[in-house]
Amino acid sequence: MSVPGLEGLLAGDGVRGQHVFVRADLNVPLDGTRIADDTRIRASLPTVRRLLAGGGRVILASHLGRPKGERVPRLSLRPVAARLAELLGTGVSFSDRCVGPRAEEAVADLGDGQVLLLENLRFEAGEEGNDLSFALRLADLADIYVNDAFGTAHRAHASTAGMVPYVDRAAAGELLEAELASLQAVREPVRPLLCLLGGAKVSDKLGVLSALARRADVLAVGGAMAYTFLAARGQPTGKSPVEHDRLDAAREVELAALTAGRRLLLPVDHVVAERLEADAPTRVVPEIPDGWMGVDIGPETAAAYADEAGRAGTLFWNGPMGVYELEPFAAGTETVARGVARSSARSVVGGGDSLAAVNKLGLGDRIDHLSTGGGASLEYVQGLKLPGVTALER
Ligand code: 3PG
Repeated sequence: MSVPGLEGLLAGDGVRGQHVFVRADLNVPLDGTRIADDTRIRASLPTVRRLLAGGGRVILASHLGRPKGERVPRLSLRPVAARLAELLGTGVSFSDRCVGPRAEEAVADLGDGQVLLLENLRFEAGEEGNDLSFALRLADLADIYVNDAFGTAHRAHASTAGMVPYVDRAAAGELLEAELASLQAVREPVRPLLCLLGGAKVSDKLGVLSALARRADVLAVGGAMAYTFLAARGQPTGKSPVEHDRLDAAREVELAALTAGRRLLLPVDHVVAERLEADAPTRVVPEIPDGWMGVDIGPETAAAYADEAGRAGTLFWNGPMGVYELEPFAAGTETVARGVARSSARSVVGGGDSLAAVNKLGLGDRIDHLSTGGGASLEYVQGLKLPGVTALER
């Protein structure tokens, strides 16, 4: 089922003079009060600009971090308001409450074509609890609802799902629409479909591993979770991080791939270190010796994964191949990033570290779609419904 978009909203009765609540994902990495990466803020601009140009009175709302219903000053969205103002080239007012009299006053002060950012929605317990009374208080602020928060669309929270039935009109923003269209290409791929999955834990990605083991022609695994797969095969893993309570789960994923006639690739060589420190001695080995830990896929594995990218019709990549944040352990992730960029496949990359690798190498414009949603893109490609999208399908 498709979701209504901005086109319909702007073409119909329009938004002039209307209060438009825009749920964006402005959950950006902060370094103190400095915004370390403003990609998500930039990605939210097209929708905001169109609504402002249409004379809408835009109420932007987002979460930042996981304050769990407490007011945590370092997770205030105030620095985001300042950055938004710079990028939009217009004033952005800020309300230090997202509901209640202070927020209502700030909303009432908005004129046509003006924008207000509300304080972190997750300072209120009702947001994550998807509490009806909190959802109603949010809905009361606006006439129209727009969800542009793809990165949070997998959460059934008050601002992503709960409030939607209580506004007059609701639509998806440009970013949400673009993300869904691009990820649809992974759900209905030009084959062969290659999925490259990295990251720390099998337990975090079990759902997507199980689903992609069946759907992808090739599922190539890297990152620390590969060591759990190797341990499940009975291979030595030294002192690499292994989830011993997930060995059966890893075997089931392998079996699912085998039964479906798919290929599941694991590293055939490794960069190992004595300690998880940038200056630790390292070696490249086919088998992880006792007393050493895997910190990256080895060069042969990285080249093989990059070659697979060259043969793919569609590819999806999420998660680093090694301890990417430490320079000596970043080579595997970077080789894969280059392979993905060279590939003529329809390519989608999601997740903070994989995006950081692509951007660091200046390869962003050679990827068809850089997803702003890590968890959300993983849920979507495995065929799950996203509550933030379902709420709009009415
Ligand atoms: C993200 O960073 O993936 C999104 O903003 C969702 O954040 P969450 O995992 O805290 O819900």
